[in-house]
Amino acid sequence: MRAEDAPLIRLEDYRPSDWLIDTVDLDIALDERETRVRSLLGLRPNPGGQAGAPLVLDGDELTLANVKLDGVALGAGAYSVTPQGLIIHAPPQRGFTLTVETVVNPSANTKLMGLYRSSNAYCTQCEADGFRRITYFLDRPDVMSVYTVRLEARKAEAPVLLSNGNRVATGDVIGSDRHFAVWHDPHPKPAYLFALVGGALDHVREDYVTAEGNKVELAVYVEPGKAGRAGWALDSLVRCMRWDERVFGRNYDLDVFNVVAVSDFNMGAMENKGLNIFNDKYVLADPQTATDGDYASIEAIIAHEYFHNWTGNRITCRDWFQLCLKEGLTVFRDQEFSSDERSRPVKRIADVRTLRATQFSEDAGPLAHPVRPRAYKEINNFYTPTVYEKGAEVIRMLKVLIGADAFKRGMDLYFERCDGTAATIEEFLACFAESSGQDLSHFARWYEQAGTPTITASGRYDAAAQTYTLDLAQSTPPTPGQPEKLPVVLPVALGLVGKGGDLPLHTGSNAYAGNGVIVLDRPSLSVTFSDVAEPPIPSLLRGFSAPARLELDLGDADLLKLFSTDSDSFNRWQALQSVATRALVETGSGASNRVWLMGKARELAAALDLFLREQAAADPAFAAQVLRLPAPADIAREIGRDVDPERIHAAHRSLSAEIGNALAARLATLREALAESGPYAPDASAAGQRALRNEALGLIAIGDPDIGARLAQLQFAGADNLTDRLAALAAMTLIPGAAREELIARFAERYASEPLVLDKWLMAQALIAEPGTLDRVKELMRHPAFSLGNPNRVRALIGGFAANLTQFNRADGAGYSFVADIVIALDRTNPQVASRLLGSFRAWRMLEPGRRALAQSALAMVSNMPNLSRDVADIAERALA
Ligand code: PHE
Ligand code: ZN
Repeated sequence: MRAEDAPLIRLEDYRPSDWLIDTVDLDIALDERETRVRSLLGLRPNPGGQAGAPLVLDGDELTLANVKLDGVALGAGAYSVTPQGLIIHAPPQRGFTLTVETVVNPSANTKLMGLYRSSNAYCTQCEADGFRRITYFLDRPDVMSVYTVRLEARKAEAPVLLSNGNRVATGDVIGSDRHFAVWHDPHPKPAYLFALVGGALDHVREDYVTAEGNKVELAVYVEPGKAGRAGWALDSLVRCMRWDERVFGRNYDLDVFNVVAVSDFNMGAMENKGLNIFNDKYVLADPQTATDGDYASIEAIIAHEYFHNWTGNRITCRDWFQLCLKEGLTVFRDQEFSSDERSRPVKRIADVRTLRATQFSEDAGPLAHPVRPRAYKEINNFYTPTVYEKGAEVIRMLKVLIGADAFKRGMDLYFERCDGTAATIEEFLACFAESSGQDLSHFARWYEQAGTPTITASGRYDAAAQTYTLDLAQSTPPTPGQPEKLPVVLPVALGLVGKGGDLPLHTGSNAYAGNGVIVLDRPSLSVTFSDVAEPPIPSLLRGFSAPARLELDLGDADLLKLFSTDSDSFNRWQALQSVATRALVETGSGASNRVWLMGKARELAAALDLFLREQAAADPAFAAQVLRLPAPADIAREIGRDVDPERIHAAHRSLSAEIGNALAARLATLREALAESGPYAPDASAAGQRALRNEALGLIAIGDPDIGARLAQLQFAGADNLTDRLAALAAMTLIPGAAREELIARFAERYASEPLVLDKWLMAQALIAEPGTLDRVKELMRHPAFSLGNPNRVRALIGGFAANLTQFNRADGAGYSFVADIVIALDRTNPQVASRLLGSFRAWRMLEPGRRALAQSALAMVSNMPNLSRDVADIAERALA
């Protein structure tokens, strides 16, 4: 495939289906190589479709065994089979049944879409368009059907047989070594939510009673021997179910809820109705094999998939352009859950870091697209930070703009009005327009317009008049296909900070919405506050109230004051980040030199020293976020053009080393004060202490490698959990030498039989910012722990390398050709993983000319390959456009 050849699918071309499928009866005989799928479809013409149309069913890599209409075999002329599907030329213009038998080979399915094998189990992945790889179907989300599924397999091979809904029958197949299970899902659903699992799996389980009083059997299924690691996922499930009842008034709606962990999975997890299938990385946890970060992501992703039951399944998407309808909203819901379970400001800071690192960089490059794309060639390439994370930011802004009460009423209205339907963004927004009485048509531009807005702000104090005037302006840079941008609705949460804290906000301006929020909905505006008794420092975009860049003319001294006094925790963190970012941008772009940077380092160190002494103990998780400087990639994005990764890295390293040195004594004392008491517990407070201790270790290691190495080795030897061991390894990777190599080897021995832990070990090495890393990564590809066939391994080692700012972007281009070669090799077996990896090139245009040319030719090399998948062809084409 060349990308030019793939058809462009456009939102404006949406038409309802000509046919509907009310019921689906599947009978699936699982077999490693020849799985037989008999499908009985209850079809009828769609009153909203075109009468007399042929029936065009989607299919992909299927072998058709036979097809019957109302039980009668169809003659050869009555249908055609194409590579894209099955066409029934002249179906009756009334309800009828179609019985289709197909044969698929799960063992040969390396794309991990449709029915495949993972560690001796059968499993499926159907979103977005995998169901057509199991049987012929109208594989589009607005065709919703009631499924009954009979699964059959050899008892010894697959004692566990699961599908969606409730289990209605089980039994042995008389006279054979096979057994069966029948599942019925009463809720009509699109095909992308279908799932089955078969295998020898262990499980943990718990009974749950919903707020409405219905009993639900919860279970988490894992590979044999791993049930001891499934408890945290189950515990998280119970907590998020209660939370959804309490906060969104949502109860679960089946008798069973199953989660299954598999080791080969293209994404994080999947919300199939009543049968969520997970990448095992987001299920398995115990203190020896999972970090604090893993515990937190498991909790978040279990919640995310569970929350989809209402936002995604009960209410699904009319078409794939509406993907953000379920994803943005569900990310918002899982972020809120984690904020309530843990620390809200710390969660917000972590989410904003991710947003900036992934979504802002996507928005700034050739792959930028609106939260609701207008056209696509391959939908799998649109499961992006823009759809997910920016989609969640849009919901967050909506809540700020209309207020929590109207937001709640709007959600209730949405659940009531759209339940059981395949909905659109327009229908969603209409609920909030109604609940708030506000016109949201301008707000809706967030779904149409790509790019990260920049807010420019400056303020003036008039001592005589006791007024403070804030001038705000917005602009959004051009993105592919959208050269001209219009203003968007930006809620700017703010405070005016005086000597004794926040000053009262008085203004007659109608841009001021109350509650400390200015609505910037035009190119520029000014707001004058009265009765301002002293010159204030503006604290803008509190809590990161809009996904925008802020250019604020505040000096470092004022920012450092905000850092120590702002009542908004997010902006305290942001203020210090801003000082560090400015220093690194100045130096990393060559505008200032190292001597100047050292002056800045001392200012930052002084502020941090005071902060650590007085406040770190009160909130270690927050303090850990404060200690972590912006990453080199953040600085590259801020510089934005003619980027020299080596210069940025050098600046980052010098700044960190200077701060680490200046704070050495303070950090050591702090580490002792935080020393672990009692056995490992994954809760937010214990995790926060570890985070701060380990952040401190990293800074010490950069500042004084000798002391750092000694501390890291001690920590590795004495640790009782993976979080601390991995932090020790990470600190050692900053310090070249024999001790490092020895620790790397010991880590591998200790975890030789733990693939998920070795992923972290692979990644830690792939991230080493040294010229030897490329050879090291090539060597590691031959390590028994590595396999190109497993997405987690590829993401850890190759994805890790592609995220290594200096080594992926080597001046000689060897990093680019290495990754490009792997993309090409991987494309033959798993196009989705290959195209995600190719996305690592998304920032190539901002590089200095030498690297830019080398990255471009690596992309061109990929693009010119014959027989590319549509996934990779599409990314290559858009990246080069
Ligand atoms: N819908 C899944 C989620 O976010 C993501 C996913 C997409 C998984 C496509 C597999 C395939 O929750
Ligand atoms: Zn999701």
